[in-house]
Amino acid sequence: MTIPADAVEEVRRRNDIVEVVSSYVSLRKAGRNYVGLCPFHGEKTPSFTVNREKQIFYCFGCGEGGNVVTFVMKVNAMTFPEAIRHLASRAGVSLPERRLTAAEREKVSRREQIFEVNTLAEGYFRRSLHSPAGERARAYLKNRGLKEETIETFRLGYSPEGWRNLRDFLASRRVKLELAEEAGLVVKGQKGGYYDRFRDRLIFPIHDMNGRVVAFGGRVIGEGEPKYLNSPESPVYVKGRILYGLGINREAVRREGYAIVVEGYLDLLTLWDRGIKNVVATLGTALTRDHVDLLRRFADGAAVVFDADEAGRKALSRSLGLFLAGGLPCRAVVLPEGYDPDDHVRAFGPEGFGELVAKARPAVEYYIDTVFGTRGAVDMDRTRLRESLSFLAAIENPVERNLFIRRIADRIGVDEAVLKREIGSTGGEQQVGAPERAVREARTSGSKADPLEVELIRIFMENPGSVPLSTMREALGYYESEELRRFGGRLCDLPPEKIGADCAALLDGLADEGLRATLLGALVTRTSQGEGDLERYFNDACRQIRRKWYRRRHRLLRMALLKAQEEGNEGEVRKLLEEKERLLQEEKEEAPKRRNSEVDHGKGS
Ligand code: UTP
Ligand code: MN
Repeated sequence: MTIPADAVEEVRRRNDIVEVVSSYVSLRKAGRNYVGLCPFHGEKTPSFTVNREKQIFYCFGCGEGGNVVTFVMKVNAMTFPEAIRHLASRAGVSLPERRLTAAEREKVSRREQIFEVNTLAEGYFRRSLHSPAGERARAYLKNRGLKEETIETFRLGYSPEGWRNLRDFLASRRVKLELAEEAGLVVKGQKGGYYDRFRDRLIFPIHDMNGRVVAFGGRVIGEGEPKYLNSPESPVYVKGRILYGLGINREAVRREGYAIVVEGYLDLLTLWDRGIKNVVATLGTALTRDHVDLLRRFADGAAVVFDADEAGRKALSRSLGLFLAGGLPCRAVVLPEGYDPDDHVRAFGPEGFGELVAKARPAVEYYIDTVFGTRGAVDMDRTRLRESLSFLAAIENPVERNLFIRRIADRIGVDEAVLKREIGSTGGEQQVGAPERAVREARTSGSKADPLEVELIRIFMENPGSVPLSTMREALGYYESEELRRFGGRLCDLPPEKIGADCAALLDGLADEGLRATLLGALVTRTSQGEGDLERYFNDACRQIRRKWYRRRHRLLRMALLKAQEEGNEGEVRKLLEEKERLLQEEKEEAPKRRNSEVDHGKGS
């Protein structure tokens, strides 16, 4: 289904970029702009800039930029129609809806269809939990101490016993079973039929940041193997990118300033049930850099729950590197042996667990203590030492890195320089952060354009009605950058009000990412000229661009001439000299104009 252009336009107009961004990034005013920590890459000082006037954003750190729609697309990993719908509902704009024909239905993106199937399944599981068949599941939940409010908020459900309950339900709703299979809800059997993945299990729907169901987890009721069954990854579910509970708990996380990170569904639910709401769960998978980046959008830190055993120490070492590289402070909450957060809060209450969190120390300190606390350097095996130090190489801030190195050197009684050499040879530095750096370089490497040519286009875009088109077109004729010349030409063909309306969308017409980023950056930071200044500035810039063009041509001619003379090519030399003469003449003919403008406007450049 395509959304009509005027509806898109209205959605864009009704969603102020500063307000929309603010619900993901905490912004503060800095001059005419708003700045905050970039949600698209790890950083500690804000280079993410939002300009309300022009309704654009740009990050000076990673080069990401665009308008309110592209922001929502990027930050939520949404397609264009998803982002428009999201923004429409946010601003209370009703989009024209109509019944889909079969052909159109095929076209609706696969993702949207999977969301629909998941939502149907979620409803089915919830109804089953409250049906007579769900009685054992309800009793189990009650036994685990969860209140009705918790069960409802997290939309828990039950998949009844049997092989085709959900399958038949979905079929009755005209859902194609291949789609249900792609969503992970049914499994294809040997004979080609489909059967339910989840049978006689307690169901935990997993939601994304927008409350849409992306996957399910199912627990056996009581004892049994496997204890948990999970949806496989699908077009809407990438494990390393989802934190269970973050969608529901984001406000609590923001309010508290940090997130408590646990492993299991029931760890999160029991804590939530007892009033500890700034919790997220990794669902038993290893923490990823994406998780850290996701958290950083809402939190200034994390308190990660670890087991006191060897496995917990390993997990801590892995996660620590990620938190350090992601620039998110992390504290280690260490549970007494034999408890998980769910057991702990049930045994010691929210006060007991809260105390554990409150006294949690920075993870780095805890790590140094546990790894180096008792051992001396002498019996410290080299490989093991290197392994445990690999995370140090990931600390991007050299001051911080050296601080840790000194601390560890002290602790194990090794010379700092020796330790640095060990760390240098772990190679961690090349791995962590490298992709980001590569992206940044790729983005900016193309922007070889003359800043003045960029500047002229910026001025034109900001004052579309007041810059004389003929002068702009003339100036474009002298541009060195082909791409900017073409882009400027297209701008000249547009009615002025179109240019003012959405400059970020226009910039999408620039194929060169580097140029696009450069222009966005210029649009975000520079101030518009006053009207009087504008004309003078514009004329000056045009003149300089023209002068540069002639200089380039002269230089090229000079080089060709030298070469021809060296080769003794008389004919070529003559031809080039003629051309040089012509060029000088041409430039002189332009000169009166130039002198006039110098008289009018003083020195200019
Ligand atoms: P745990 O085994 O610690 O389970 O696994 P739990 O969360 O404490 O659950 P209860 O209290 O026994 O009911 C932690 C997490 O690892 C994932 C689940 O997300 C679980 O919540 N897991 C565990 C699986 O995906 N599959 C399994 O078989 C076990
Ligand atoms: Mn448990």
